[in-house]
Parts: sequence; C-alpha cells; structure tokens
Amino acid sequence: MDTHDISWQVMISEEDIQRRTRELARMVDADFQGKDLILICNLKGAFVFLADFCRELTILHEIDFIATSSYKGTTSSSGVVRIVKDLKSDINERHVLIVEDIVDSGLTLDYVRRYLSLHNPASIQILTLLDKREARKVAIEADYVGFVIPDKFVLGYGLDFFEHYRNLRFIAEYISPE
Ligand code: PRP
Repeated sequence: MDTHDISWQVMISEEDIQRRTRELARMVDADFQGKDLILICNLKGAFVFLADFCRELTILHEIDFIATSSYKGTTSSSGVVRIVKDLKSDINERHVLIVEDIVDSGLTLDYVRRYLSLHNPASIQILTLLDKREARKVAIEADYVGFVIPDKFVLGYGLDFFEHYRNLRFIAEYISPE
C-alpha cells in the first residue's frame, strides 16, 4: 500500500487534544486519589495518548503495556482479538485504568477487559481518547472519554494508516480518493 500523498482533514486539533487530556487527567486525579493505580496501555495506537496523559496526572501511578493483535488489515473492523504482548506487572487487588486511543467496534476492549479481569484487579476502568459509538458491535462503554467521533476512518496521534502517520500531532479524517 502506497501511503504517500494520502488526503486528510483535521478532525481534532493538537490544542483541543491537549486541553481535553488535561481535563481527563484532573478527573482521574480526583477519582483515584490515594488508590494503587496502574495504567495499562493497549499498544500500539495508545502510546502517544498515554505519554501525554500520564504527564498531566499528578497522582502516583504505575504504567504497563499490553498488545493485542486484531483482524484489521484494512480500514474496517471485524474479527477476533488475541494478546501478543502480555503484562509484566501483577495487577492483583490493584486499580486498573485501561488506556486506549479509540473504541470502535468495542471488540478489542471487551476482550482486554475480560482478560485483565482474570487477574483479580480491585477495579477496572477504561479511558479512551476517541469513542466511535456508532460503530459499536458489543455493548461496552468507557468510563472516561475524550471525544465522541463519527464513524469515519481516523489517523494521527497514535492511530495509523497502514502503520504510517502515527506521529501526526492531531487527529485527522482520512479522505478516500474518488
Ligand atoms: C485499534 C485501537 C484499539 C482498537 C479499537 O487498534 O488502538 O485497540 O483498534 O477497535 P475495536 O473497538 O474495533 O476493536 P489496532 O487493532 O488498529 O492496532 P494498533 O493500535 O496496533 O494500530
């Protein structure tokens, strides 16, 4: 796939992402004050959001990573999820906040949440920068949502277009050629 010269238009600006990230961090600061918090970032897409979000938090927290592989080779979502990189940390009796870049069909998050719940955490909550609610195939909602977006293909700020463009500082909508 030639990913040069693709077209996009900005959907969420860098400034709006920064502002909303600070707001989300204030909520999580308040809700998890005094709790043993571990952020679990679902790679790859969420790494950019995690990096900015964790630097806005003021409460103590740990960070770990999990990676899932899905069904996606195209710009649509359908199929089966599997764990390709497991946690390093023990989350037994700890408060888990899953950090996602986007909830689309909900299949990934549903799988990750059920997988993590097997490790007996004290609680599991979900933080996502983007929520594509219209595209949901399973009933799952995040506890903290940055932006609800329409059912468009988006890239940038961690999200890829055939593995490229994760480094954009904003979220863009992909414009398909005619
Ligand atoms: C993206 C995103 C979520 C998932 C959401 O990951 O980071 O994990 O899709 O889609 P869903 O709700 O339809 O399951 P992706 O599988 O594209 O992998 P990546 O983060 O490594 O790019």
